Amino acid sequence: MPAIVLIGAQWGDEGKGKATDLLGDRIDYVVKFNGGNNAGHTVVVGSEKYALHLLPSGILTDGVIPVIANGVVIDLAVLFEELDALSARGVDVSRLRVSANAHLITSYHRTLDKVTERFLGKRQIGTTGRGIGPAYADKINRVGIRVQDLFDENILRQKVEGALDQKNQILAKIYNRRAITVDEVVGELLTYAERLKPMVADTSLELNTALDAGKTVLFEGGQATMLDVDHGTYPFVTSSSATSGGAATGSGVAPNRFDRVIGVIKAYTTRVGAGPFPTELFDEWGEFLTEKGAEFGTTTGRKRRTGWYDAPIARYASRINGITDFVLTKLDVLTGIESIPVCVAYEIDGARVDEMPVSQTDFHHATPIYENFPGWTEDITGVRTFEDLPKNARDYVLALEAMSGSRMSAIGVGPGRDAIVVRHDLVG
Ligand code: GDP
Ligand code: IMO
Ligand code: MG
Repeated sequence: MPAIVLIGAQWGDEGKGKATDLLGDRIDYVVKFNGGNNAGHTVVVGSEKYALHLLPSGILTDGVIPVIANGVVIDLAVLFEELDALSARGVDVSRLRVSANAHLITSYHRTLDKVTERFLGKRQIGTTGRGIGPAYADKINRVGIRVQDLFDENILRQKVEGALDQKNQILAKIYNRRAITVDEVVGELLTYAERLKPMVADTSLELNTALDAGKTVLFEGGQATMLDVDHGTYPFVTSSSATSGGAATGSGVAPNRFDRVIGVIKAYTTRVGAGPFPTELFDEWGEFLTEKGAEFGTTTGRKRRTGWYDAPIARYASRINGITDFVLTKLDVLTGIESIPVCVAYEIDGARVDEMPVSQTDFHHATPIYENFPGWTEDITGVRTFEDLPKNARDYVLALEAMSGSRMSAIGVGPGRDAIVVRHDLVG
């Protein structure tokens, strides 16, 4: 099983970082193929807690080669801060490879992200404010700055000039902000060039060569299916392809090389930022999930919105991504709930709808149809085999499996690296 894609099946923060870390010692390369430092992955190793944003989570495992591929947008200040912080904690970061084709997030992208959100007022998306949307907009608009541009100052200057000609008009005339000079931007970017240079590579070639040699490569998605720019709840999405298809375009590895697609999914649902969320809870159960699940964002610290498990979303994610295995996380958070509701379908304008509705308007006013499952009270955080889970917990997992479109191959029972029950091998 040499090429494995791992993606989020809901609205992010499913525990992808932990799942990647779990596979760490069985993989040779871990590739970030989309997004940027909007991601926030918390990985708990023993008593140490790591918060990763731009670097793939596999960096925490000795011997794994981390790769930032072409589909990522890179804020260089964040990259080096993160590398330095990990080095200071004894993590070997020397193997990092960075694609020459990845795009850069510059100061004007960060500024534009913040001012456009402010301008949207009530219609704002609730972005992470990291410049992600504006950087991808420039990429698609063909005025982006790429990693390789750092090594040709003339080209860099020309490209920044071209981008700023238009952006300064927008900043000054629409948003009443001061213009940004070419020298400021070029000067800042060039301070990173020398340090970045040895990491820059043709990462597509390296990954394909590694696969030819029988190495195991894990493609770690940032964000998630419902935040995907094509398949998510547009416009309340991020600006990249967070689904498994994005792993191909975002890395230069062809889709027919992928052997397995792991969807990470929580035993309930959370969302950060604005947008529709049918199973969202506004009562004490919502508070319960927030508090017990410690549902506060790793990147912005915002309180996550919480709700029950949504099976139509799981089926949708299974289909869009070709999920072969789910990793179901945070089952332990549900311990102590007497009867656990699961959304099995929606009611829209009086009719039952079993799949994700075609129209976003319908999704906005879809109300969940719930089925209730009996809960359990035993502490499951120390359980390591499926048979040792309480019967009701097993039945809950099996019920989700039956309605979610793919098998539940591993089950998270706590934040720690080893707090996991494996039913089917995820790599072999
Ligand atoms: P990611 O963005 O998908 O990598 O997920 P985040 O790291 O943003 O959020 C997931 C959070 O849940 C982290 O704080 C993890 O330590 C934690 N976590 C992951 N799996 C489990 C689990 O099975 N049980 C519990 N209680 N916490 C978990
Ligand atoms: P991980 O990888 C949860 C959300 C933001 C906002 C929308 C757009 O940790 O699962 P952006 O800054 O990307 O333009 O914001 O997407 N968002 C996330 N929500 N987890 C993430 O990443 C997210 N990355 C972006 O809250 O609603
Ligand atoms: Mg996260």
